[in-house]
Amino acid sequence: MIAGRNPRAKVFATELHPHRARLLQHLSRLSNVYVVAADARLLPFSFAFDRILADVPCSGTGTLARNPEIKWRLRAKDLLDLQSRQVAILKSALAQLAVGGRLVYSTCSLEREENEEVVETVLDGAAELTLADFRKELEQLQQSGEMCWKDTASLLAGPYLRTIPGVHPCDGFFAAMIKRR
Ligand SMILES: C[S@@+](CC[C@H](N)C(=O)[O-])C[C@H]1O[C@@H](n2cnc3c(N)ncnc32)[C@H](O)[C@@H]1O
Repeated sequence: MIAGRNPRAKVFATELHPHRARLLQHLSRLSNVYVVAADARLLPFSFAFDRILADVPCSGTGTLARNPEIKWRLRAKDLLDLQSRQVAILKSALAQLAVGGRLVYSTCSLEREENEEVVETVLDGAAELTLADFRKELEQLQQSGEMCWKDTASLLAGPYLRTIPGVHPCDGFFAAMIKRR
């Protein structure tokens, strides 16, 4: 979708597992999409990006309604393991963000450990990075007619975007937008 809406942009997608990378390549047949099988903690790019989406691996607790087995599988220590991977991926992605660029960090988790804590850890002491408020983005989406949900305030948790199953007609998602000065 990102590539289709921005045909002049080059879109690079990084996926750790080769079979998933192959599937991604198969599904996105656009000529401006380049799928790379690599570890996002060690990105293999020598250039910077204007926009980055870090849709990281997570516990998936926002999708419990569709995936109830997560409840039996997930252990408290898994959250810490996921958090350290998420911090590493976000740091690595931010290192590739161009000056003036924007990065969206997203999960389908409801857990503070995988959401706010990851963003706060990475931004701590990084004066060149600022957290953007999602309110403005949502208002723009509403004005352009791309978002029909009226209650913008219910989608916000401070500067973050957050959907809640049962409140919003979708899974639970979290997103933070980070800018590089
Ligand atoms: C939330 S999913 C992303 C879904 C993707 N945005 C889509 O629409 O298909 C997270 C993905 O990250 C991959 N992944 C896990 N660890 C990774 C790593 N270290 N580097 C790159 N990809 C990783 C997983 O295999 C999984 O496919």
